Amino acid sequence: KNIDGTNSLYLYQGAWIPGFNLRGVDSFQRRFIAQDTDIIVASMPKSGTTWLKALAFSVAERHIYGPRESPLLSTSPHELVRFFETDLYSKDQPPDLEQLPPPRIFGCHSHYANLPESIRDSKCKVVYICRNPLDQIVSFFQFAHKFKLDDGTSLLSLDECYENICRGVQSQGPFWDNVLGYWKASLERPDKVLFLKYEELKEDIVLNLKKLAEFLGLPFTDKEEEEGVIEEISRLCSFDNLRNLEVNKNGVRPLSGAPNSAFFRKGEVGDWANYLSPSMAEKFFNIVEEKLAGSGLSFKTSQESA
Ligand code: A3P
Repeated sequence: KNIDGTNSLYLYQGAWIPGFNLRGVDSFQRRFIAQDTDIIVASMPKSGTTWLKALAFSVAERHIYGPRESPLLSTSPHELVRFFETDLYSKDQPPDLEQLPPPRIFGCHSHYANLPESIRDSKCKVVYICRNPLDQIVSFFQFAHKFKLDDGTSLLSLDECYENICRGVQSQGPFWDNVLGYWKASLERPDKVLFLKYEELKEDIVLNLKKLAEFLGLPFTDKEEEEGVIEEISRLCSFDNLRNLEVNKNGVRPLSGAPNSAFFRKGEVGDWANYLSPSMAEKFFNIVEEKLAGSGLSFKTSQESA
């Protein structure tokens, strides 16, 4: 199913892209026209994208659906948004996205520098979620092995995967380039790019939901706060709630055939310690630290924290 009939990662415009995503990535970059009202949810894979999609949707659509009528109760977060690179844009005829009512919400793993120009140039908003890279590695490894996602490196042994990742070779990596692009953009253009951390969302979801709503230009009113709307959204989108919904237990993504349950595993911080040795963790953190040096972005090595 890969573009060249093999399972490989390709270094394309500085990013490692699975062969089966190449056409979509290229087509997305050339053809996508952003609208000022669009919301782009960006991330490295396995960083909490599904969660952020659900949160962004719930914030943006809260005046239309109360939490008890939310489409999220019967629809996977991935079906609420259009996941460009992999599926839709690999088709010769991309879907008619003009028809979608605003705000359109899209998911994307592209590096910031490789986004379609109209995303950077329009007034649309970009929300990025990053995660402790060791948890990201473990989550991706588990996902790939359980669902046989073969990008040429993902089905290697954990030791082999780890060695590749230390060289930056992983789907949508290098990790440091993916995060740094958005991190720098969030500093230069804070009204354009919001940079969130998975661990901080776990720690204080209410604070982060307020941040998200304000950034999207849809701040919660005092009345909404009094009525507990923020807590309702956080409960609706919580790991336990989403994971236990019928659609996420037994549903399947129509285009890729991936089970929705694949996107809900443990949802914990620090699970890497169950898979990677302390010396593997230390070596990788040293590499990441060196790559992020001077940027102001850092990750804590402690198992409990970001
Ligand atoms: P784990 O494999 O560590 O459990 P993505 O959505 O980017 O593919 O990321 C998937 C990761 O986010 C998985 O991590 C998954 O369990 C976790 N996740 C999914 N929904 C979540 C939620 N509502 N809250 C917290 N974590 C969630």
